Amino acid sequence: MSVLQQLTGTLAVAVFTAALGSLQYGYSVGVINAPQKVIEDEYGRALGVWSERAAGLSENSTEEERLNPGQNPVVIMYWSLSVAVFSIGGMLSSFLVGFVGDMRGRVKGMLMVNVLAVAAGLLMGLCRMWKPHIMVISGRALIGFYCGLMSGLVPMYIGEIAPKAYRGALGALHQLAIVIGILLSQVLGLDFILGNADMWPILLGLSGAPAVLQSLLLPFCPESPRYLYILRGNEQEAQKSLYRLKGPYDATSDMEEMRREKEEADREARVSILSLIRSSVYRQQLFVALMMHLSQQLSGINAIFYYSTAIFERAGVAQPVYATIGVGVINTIFTLLSVVLVDRAGRRSLTLTGLAGMCCCAVAMTVGLKFQNDYSWMSYVSMASIFLFVSFFEIGPGPIPWFIVAELFSQGPRPAAIALAGCCNWTSNFIVGMTFPYIQDWLGPYVFVLFAALLLGFTVFIYLRVPETKGKTFEEIAAVFQKGQKKNYTNTELQQLKTSTDA
Ligand code: GLC
Repeated sequence: MSVLQQLTGTLAVAVFTAALGSLQYGYSVGVINAPQKVIEDEYGRALGVWSERAAGLSENSTEEERLNPGQNPVVIMYWSLSVAVFSIGGMLSSFLVGFVGDMRGRVKGMLMVNVLAVAAGLLMGLCRMWKPHIMVISGRALIGFYCGLMSGLVPMYIGEIAPKAYRGALGALHQLAIVIGILLSQVLGLDFILGNADMWPILLGLSGAPAVLQSLLLPFCPESPRYLYILRGNEQEAQKSLYRLKGPYDATSDMEEMRREKEEADREARVSILSLIRSSVYRQQLFVALMMHLSQQLSGINAIFYYSTAIFERAGVAQPVYATIGVGVINTIFTLLSVVLVDRAGRRSLTLTGLAGMCCCAVAMTVGLKFQNDYSWMSYVSMASIFLFVSFFEIGPGPIPWFIVAELFSQGPRPAAIALAGCCNWTSNFIVGMTFPYIQDWLGPYVFVLFAALLLGFTVFIYLRVPETKGKTFEEIAAVFQKGQKKNYTNTELQQLKTSTDA
């Protein structure tokens, strides 16, 4: 049977269903930007800020003058919390990915956590029924918590069910769904669609919609054969699941591969987050996994996503909102390109090309920002560099870190590794989001020099330390790292590790 025939309808449904979780993540990342002003106004009204201000205004003041709460410190605080609490939720829950995924399986895990998304959608959608600021902040915290779990569960499930030859392409679909979610939220957030004073609660409430569809489809998705066999020891169910995913084929070699992984996993025991951090057996893989996620976030990509409209404004672009949507479109196109390329060109070369390209764009952006007042055409340089920056990101540094962690680790430590990498991603995302406006004030046009320097460092690191994982079995990948280590672990050492884990 050819590898292409292994792409069955059931596999497509399973991957599509899982990716709805990623879509929801992207939507929640993007949705909060466009309606900032109308939401601040509503917070201002709810907090009674308008009456305080109105007291200082003459009787002839217009309604609009009375309602200008965007500058009020209390409103600013509630607004900042509404944005930031999302990442805080994600940081906390990403630790629980392993626990949720292993408890009842990947599919049931995703089904369970959908309750959070629906509850969050309702809180935000119905926020006018009580204090909108409190309802929105609670909803954003809950959806962040949900997204932290999904950003681990989806790549874990897809990585485990994908045929080896398509693991990269299917893994990159997680990112494709994220960027489609971002684009969708940018378009729906336009003021003549949902980003206006009347409709914004619906815009935010829609964050929960994909979870409803996903919950309807999940019962039709086969459980991960690796979970069934390696974790639950249920060989028959695992084989059934394999047939559903890949069609009628000779499953001997897949079963054999899982049997060997199971032996390995049984020897390793369940690796907890703490023992993974302490263990020297996995140190190299862990270091690579965390650096891949750091490179994704510290590249400055979300500085562009969170603040693109402001950056375009500063760069002198006439219609910044549409330029931001343009970024979303380019983002989606290049992620699609990565889906096509990743199993051919390989993870390593695409990440290297992406990071090096982004580094050059960061330099070009600096030149553009520095000289925009001297030469008017410099705004085109800034704009082109932003578009190229995003394109290079989506070629490799965007999609690859999400799925490479599942590839770098065998079954035993995989959930713990995904949890740690996810937490590293969410934390660095939060730090960039919170600090960028201050760094921008401090460094002015040189703000992207900082990212250029970091990008250069990450490019060198990936070049020196990250092996290619394309087309290799999980076992072969683990072997690459073991060979790279100075010593090979004896059974006694592994036993010691197991004991310390159990303790
Ligand atoms: C990646 C990042 C996310 C970012 C997105 C942009 O998924 O993890 O933080 O917003 O790419 O496309």
